[in-house]
Amino acid sequence: MSTLAPGARISVLFDAESIASRVRALAGEIVAEMGHSPLVIPVLKGSFIFAADLLRALHEAGAEPDMDFIGLSSYGRGTLSLGEVKIVRDTEAEIAGRDVLIVDDILESGRTLAFAKDLMAARRAKSVKTCVLLDKPGKLAVQMKADFTGFQCADKFVVGYGMDMAHAYRQLPFVGVVES
Ligand code: IMP
Ligand code: MG
Repeated sequence: MSTLAPGARISVLFDAESIASRVRALAGEIVAEMGHSPLVIPVLKGSFIFAADLLRALHEAGAEPDMDFIGLSSYGRGTLSLGEVKIVRDTEAEIAGRDVLIVDDILESGRTLAFAKDLMAARRAKSVKTCVLLDKPGKLAVQMKADFTGFQCADKFVVGYGMDMAHAYRQLPFVGVVES
C-alpha cells in the first residue's frame, strides 16, 4: 500500500511485472489467431498505456500492425456509467476489409466493446476481435465476451496503467484500487 496523494491510499492489484508478462503472452495469442497485420484500434482514453505496451509486444511477436484510435465515452466525471456510449473521437483509417483488433482497458457492462464491435462491422471490417486488459465478471448488461483477456478483475473501481478516477491516477505503473 502506498500513499500517493493526501488522503488517497492505493492498493496494488496487478503490478508492473505481472502486467508486462501477461501483455507479452497476449501478443502471442493475438498473432497466432489474427496473423501479422491487424489494424489495432485502442478505445481512448483508458487503454492508451495498455495499447502502447501491447503494440510493442506485437512487434516482438513478429507482427506489423497498423494503428488508429477511437474515443468512446459512457462515463461522466465520476465512477457511475451513464449507459449510453458516445463517439468522442472517431477513427480515420479505412476499416473495410481489415482485420480489426479493438483494445480496451476494462470489460464491465460490455456496452463500450459491443458498440465498438458493431461500429467496425457496420464499416465492413473483414473481421473484428476484441482485447481487454481486465474483465470484471458478472456485470454484463449486453452479451459480450472479449476474444483476448489480460486478467479477471474483482468488482472494484480500479485505476492506474492508463485508467482514471475523475481524470486522476492514469500515470500509475500498476493497476490498483483506491482505498479511501
Ligand atoms: P462498459 O461499457 O460498462 O463495459 O465499461 C467499460 C468502460 O468503462 C471502460 O472502457 C472503462 O473506461 C470504464 N471503466 C469501467 N470500470 C472501470 C474502473 O474500474 N476504472 C476505470 N474505468 C472503468
Ligand atoms: Mg474506456
